[in-house]
Amino acid sequence: MKAKSLNQAETVTDHKALLKWVSKTVEMCEPDAVHWCDGSQAEADRLFSEMVASGMCVKLNEAKRPNSYLFRSDPKDVARVESRTFICSQSRDGAGPTNNWEDPVVMRRKLKKLFKGCMAGRTMYVIPFSMGPVGGPISKIGVEITDSPYVVINMRIMARIGQPVLDALGERGFFIPCLHSVGQPLAAGGEEVPWPCDPPNTHIVHFPEERAIVSYGSGYGGNALLGKKCLALRIASVLAHDEGWMAEHMLILGVEEPCGRKTYVAAAFPSACGKTNFAMLIPPKAMEGYKVTCVGDDIAWLKPGPDGSLYAINPEAGFFGVAPGTSEKTNPSAMASCARDTIFTNVALTDDGDVWWEGMTEQAPAHLIDWLGNDWTPESDNLAAHPNSRFTAPAANCPVIDPDWEKPEGVRIDAIAFGGRRMRDEPMVTQAFNWGHGVYLAATIGAEMTAAAEGQLGQVRRDPMAMLPFCGYNMGDYFRHWFKMRNNIQHLPAIFKVNWFRKSEEGAFLWPGFGENMRPLRWMVERASGRVGAVETPIGWMPHYEDIDWRGLDFTETSFKSLMEIDRPTLRMQTLAHEELFLKLFEHLPKEMIFERELLISRL
Ligand code: GTP
Ligand code: SPV
Ligand code: MN
Repeated sequence: MKAKSLNQAETVTDHKALLKWVSKTVEMCEPDAVHWCDGSQAEADRLFSEMVASGMCVKLNEAKRPNSYLFRSDPKDVARVESRTFICSQSRDGAGPTNNWEDPVVMRRKLKKLFKGCMAGRTMYVIPFSMGPVGGPISKIGVEITDSPYVVINMRIMARIGQPVLDALGERGFFIPCLHSVGQPLAAGGEEVPWPCDPPNTHIVHFPEERAIVSYGSGYGGNALLGKKCLALRIASVLAHDEGWMAEHMLILGVEEPCGRKTYVAAAFPSACGKTNFAMLIPPKAMEGYKVTCVGDDIAWLKPGPDGSLYAINPEAGFFGVAPGTSEKTNPSAMASCARDTIFTNVALTDDGDVWWEGMTEQAPAHLIDWLGNDWTPESDNLAAHPNSRFTAPAANCPVIDPDWEKPEGVRIDAIAFGGRRMRDEPMVTQAFNWGHGVYLAATIGAEMTAAAEGQLGQVRRDPMAMLPFCGYNMGDYFRHWFKMRNNIQHLPAIFKVNWFRKSEEGAFLWPGFGENMRPLRWMVERASGRVGAVETPIGWMPHYEDIDWRGLDFTETSFKSLMEIDRPTLRMQTLAHEELFLKLFEHLPKEMIFERELLISRL
């Protein structure tokens, strides 16, 4: 078997280090066969039909949802597992207090035991992939080895995979090795279950100095599609720190104004706080002539260009979007993106072979098969789709995809926004006074826990730059890197903080959000080029009522006041709350952060 794999390998690559790593992995994992993925449609079709035959997935109705499939995961394997995610730097300090750490030697030993023979009875897939356009100046190459065909067909949508990547890699190019197994080794002659996984032994491990990733025991998105959070954020943040660029949990969008002017904006919101929605925003009818185009919905790599501006690419090629709440009303472009060629995970199946999830339509269908595979009716007690059910859809399917979304050198970023999820006290939009103040605002964003998640309702989790679960090194050093980037960028983007989630005492949203977010977005874009007014407040520049375009929306000055209100005593208390994170990071916390806090307190 080993010989067969190497024969195929030799025809696809001359990269000695890659060949050696693959053959060592074959020896350790003992797969029945090895397959080098070419990324072709024929290959995907073959994998899908094998998975349909073995009961791993369902093909959806070709007339309603062409070329699309539904997977149901093991109910214990439905989300990223932060408690089992590790940054194994040489020193504990390298990972810092916000990451799980383990000695890399100890961790390697543990992993070796888990991986020994773990692919017996399965095929091992080798997936060469590029994050960013193949051969692009900001792009990076990884190779994922996996025993999960689900991972192969998802990676085919989320990244660029196959022979062109190996060609770009050449004989000695740099690649990030990403080893993955779902675990739960097959007993001799045993049958594969529909969704193999090994929750008690799950480990998502990053070796930042070696630039290597090893993941065991989970088949779910962020744990298994290693190009995404593991490479494009955790390892890339380390590379970015060392090489003078930034890897961020950010969407990228373009704003076209009626005059033809185009501005690109990047924005970081914590998980499930509205990136996909903002990235594909449809402006209100009354704001005719404005158009928003999408470059990416989850990750941005930002690098200073030769002209001194900051340029960004979306390293991904698809969307791994939250399904529940997505509808023709909230996000028609996401609906169009997943209208075909899409992989659905943990949504419900309709009687005519299509998909459904909570929030897709006002009325639920009379009968469904829920995400657990059981009969479901609107009277059932459980949700039909898992709250973290997702669609994997090609970015090229998106009707508002930006014409330059695959430009290898990226698009010029003129504004960066940070958003949390705060019911009280945080105004809808503020502009930072300068880069340093912006870094402070970004470092102190937070998101309230929702009823669906563990933790006390309404309790704020501080999520600096929306990167808490994704920074591959010490968060204090990450803040320092943000401050230092100021010296590498001549034309600094303007920095904003937004909050779409403010509520009244009665619990109603004060701001309609979604498409209406075009109004604060227009203000941000015009602020970035100094074309609109603002008022100075202790926490930053804010729009006057008349600085916002209100055409077609009945939103009174009184409503605007309560949306933007800042209450000084509360703000003082919030500043104290920032202390908690600062104390945790104390040794590595840049001095600038203390100064920014002092400035804020004195303004208050
Ligand atoms: P990840 O893919 O997990 O990184 O998340 P994301 O940031 O892309 O999340 P997504 O866009 O899927 O956010 C979904 C949640 O945010 C849903 O609960 C939406 O209803 C809510 N949401 C998005 N935009 C708005 C808005 O403008 N106002 C309000 N009130 N809710 C919003
Ligand atoms: C997130 O949790 O921020 C996601 C989904 O975008 S995952 O790819 O699983 O990380
Ligand atoms: Mn995300």
